[in-house]
Amino acid sequence: MVGLPARGKSLIATKVVRYLHWLSITAKTFNVGQYRRTATPTPSADFFDTTNPEGERLRRAAAEAAVNDMCKWFRDGKGLVAILDATNSSKTRRKWIQERCQAENIETLFVESKCDDEDIIMQNILDVKTTSPDYAGQDPELAAADFRNRIRNYEKVYETIDETNERNLTYVKLIDVGKQVIINQIKDYLQSRVVYYLMNLHIKPRSIWLSRHGESQYNLTGQIGGDASLSDRGELYARKLPELVQQSVGDGRKLTVWTSTLKRTIQTARFLEFEKLEWKALDELDSGVCDGLTYGQIEEKYPDDFAQRDEDKYNYRYLGGESYRDVVIRLEPIIMELERSENILIVTHQAILRCIYAYFMNVPQERSPWMEVPLHTLIKLTPKAYATMEERLKADIPAVSTFREKGSRAKHQEAQEAAQEAHDKQKA
Ligand code: SIN
Repeated sequence: MVGLPARGKSLIATKVVRYLHWLSITAKTFNVGQYRRTATPTPSADFFDTTNPEGERLRRAAAEAAVNDMCKWFRDGKGLVAILDATNSSKTRRKWIQERCQAENIETLFVESKCDDEDIIMQNILDVKTTSPDYAGQDPELAAADFRNRIRNYEKVYETIDETNERNLTYVKLIDVGKQVIINQIKDYLQSRVVYYLMNLHIKPRSIWLSRHGESQYNLTGQIGGDASLSDRGELYARKLPELVQQSVGDGRKLTVWTSTLKRTIQTARFLEFEKLEWKALDELDSGVCDGLTYGQIEEKYPDDFAQRDEDKYNYRYLGGESYRDVVIRLEPIIMELERSENILIVTHQAILRCIYAYFMNVPQERSPWMEVPLHTLIKLTPKAYATMEERLKADIPAVSTFREKGSRAKHQEAQEAAQEAHDKQKA
């Protein structure tokens, strides 16, 4: 990373690591500030004055420790992408990093966040004074003033990546969070993927709402896949959804609603008075030859497959169908579009929601396919600087549980039978 403090470098680094993990690419951030904190946990702005020799020595030592650990991490084969999260704000520092990496056969991509937008900088200063361990327990106003002085010290020596004299470097320069992007010497596929991701980022405040479709006829019978319509209770959920959304949004914001191309999601979204878009990429995980079967029938007809799926659900691919890993690949354009967009409500299916949720909440792939995402529940995700906030709103309309725990089919079947009985009684 390259850039002055309060330019969102750590936020960008965190997001890239999360995105790469979601794509099963091992990545790790090496934050020089964290290394510096071992010797100097709560420095004042003077520490960052380049005329302060002791400060300079300690900061240099922290950068060296981080780069040494990073190189060792690569040498030990621990991962594919490391992010050196630091200001790296002089040509000399970047040259040093480039040479250290070259000596270890590590490709470099410098990512500069250059931002002069006062509102964005102010927001970042606000975040830092409330969240940075450098100012733990300090008066927030004094912390903000000190942090501003720290930035001034950095500004005295800051050199933006020089498009002439540093043209041998591979870099991407993000100006005012993506308003302008300058790219130089991108050399491989992974670099271009990261650059494309960075080009789609924005930091305007927004939320993303997620909902499964209302309970479907197939949910009642315990069948998977298919293109069934809503059950009576699913229909109730569809009618209730506009009120639930209004309650969760809380203001007059306009959302865009994305559904899959399958009936149950389109029917669920049809009372929402927002612009709607159907995405094939949001269709449920394709269960191939098992489409239309219950878990009980799958276990009977394809016992080995049933067991294999339990063993490694993320990688298991249904015969003639898809795995969770396949779904993540087809969801990548959705994630890019989500990053570019503002307030979106996605009405889709269990496996798809698990993958989208895993991206925002950084859920590891061993766990994501086993997450419970209940029917008739609206989930609101609000990305913040270092984490995504989550709220869940239940519609208070009963539905079967389609959740199947690892190693079982009984819970799912029992839940369906009980629900079917209750449903029949209600009708009678
Ligand atoms: C820090 O010490 O907080 C960051 C060091 C740097 O990246 O300049």
